[in-house]
Amino acid sequence: MSVEMIDDVERLMGLGVPYVRARGGSDYWLYATLFSATCPVAVDDGVLAGAAVAMRSQDDPGDVYVQDVMVHPGHRRRGIATGLLGVVTGQARRWGARRLYLTSEPGNTAADATWRRLGFTNLPGDTTTDAGIQVVSDFKGCGRHRAVYQRDLVAGAIAGRRNGDPGE
Ligand SMILES: CC(C)(COP(=O)(O)OP(=O)(O)OC[C@H]1O[C@@H](n2cnc3c(N)ncnc32)[C@H](O)[C@@H]1OP(=O)(O)O)[C@@H](O)C(=O)NCCC(=O)NCCS
Repeated sequence: MSVEMIDDVERLMGLGVPYVRARGGSDYWLYATLFSATCPVAVDDGVLAGAAVAMRSQDDPGDVYVQDVMVHPGHRRRGIATGLLGVVTGQARRWGARRLYLTSEPGNTAADATWRRLGFTNLPGDTTTDAGIQVVSDFKGCGRHRAVYQRDLVAGAIAGRRNGDPGE
């Protein structure tokens, strides 16, 4: 992601409702300026087709957190999310991080299928949706229930290469 792309990224993220919402322009400036190594974009024929926002934890540098993954509705099921997460994973490995983790809304079955396909584990929660997704109540604060997923970058090194992970 670069500063020049901020308006396009904001527009793309706005298409993700209800699961992804556009953040403010200055948030994207922050991602493009301080976290660009883990905020890849996918451009298809000059059009912004996907973007991911992730960052390494300062509190625990072994963790890389994936905040948003958004693929344009007209470009889904073509491996774009797989490629974006592959870029994030490659950088996380170069840093020596131990795991990637992320959350999604409990009803987001497309995201659930994507994370599982990419080798993430749905962490145990205190409730389970009808689709069998484990959910941690109040994970992001009061009323913000989330399905939490993680991928172990140490044990997952070999399996990861089958999941679009460039490995190291
Ligand atoms: C979830 C999302 C990012 C997936 O992006 P994508 O580029 O379509 O994903 P990929 O093409 O890399 O899919 C990889 C695999 O995940 C699984 N998958 C992805 N979308 C799926 C869906 N809708 N239903 C079932 N499985 C799905 C499939 O196994 C797929 O491989 P296949 O197409 O060969 O069968 C996309 O649907 C999206 O942007 N959704 C709206 C925003 C959102 O919910 N983001 C996540 C919030 S945290």
